[in-house]
Amino acid sequence: MKKEQIQPQTVDLLIEAAKSAQKMAYAPYSKFKVGAAILTSQGTVFSGANVENRTYGLTVCAERNAIMQAVLALETEIIAVAIVGPHLQKIYPCGMCLQVLAEFCTDCDIMLVHQDGFELVKLSQLLPFRFSLDSTKSE
Ligand code: THU
Repeated sequence: MKKEQIQPQTVDLLIEAAKSAQKMAYAPYSKFKVGAAILTSQGTVFSGANVENRTYGLTVCAERNAIMQAVLALETEIIAVAIVGPHLQKIYPCGMCLQVLAEFCTDCDIMLVHQDGFELVKLSQLLPFRFSLDSTKSE
C-alpha cells in the first residue's frame, strides 16, 4: 500500500485506534495519556499507548509501543502514524520515537490529532536528519 492510497476511512480507523489505545495508557505519574496507531504497508493497523515506570526513565512512549507491535507481527514497513494526546491537544512525537520510526519508514505520514481533526506532517519535517550507520544516507 502506497501513502497516496490511504483512504479517508483508513484515516478514520487509524485515529479511532489511537484514541482507543490512549484509554489503555499507564500514566500514573504524569497523568498524560497518549495513544498512537500505525498503518503498515500491508494495510494493518497496530496501536499502542504510553507505559510509565516509577523510575521515570524507563517510561515507553505510545508511538514506540505501537511500532513494536507492528514489528513483532513482522510488519516492518510503516506508512502512517496517528498520535492522540490528552484532551485532544495536538502533540508532537519525541525525538526518540522519531528515530525509531525512521527505522521502519523513509518518509511516512504523521497525523497529529486535535479537536478539529488532524495536522499532517512528514517524518522528514520533524526529523530532517536521522542517525544512520551510513553517513551518506542520513536524510
Ligand atoms: N509521551 C508519549 O507517549 N509520546 C510522546 O511522543 C511524548 C511523550 C508520554 C511519555 C510520558 O508517559 C508522558 O507522555 C509525559 O511525558
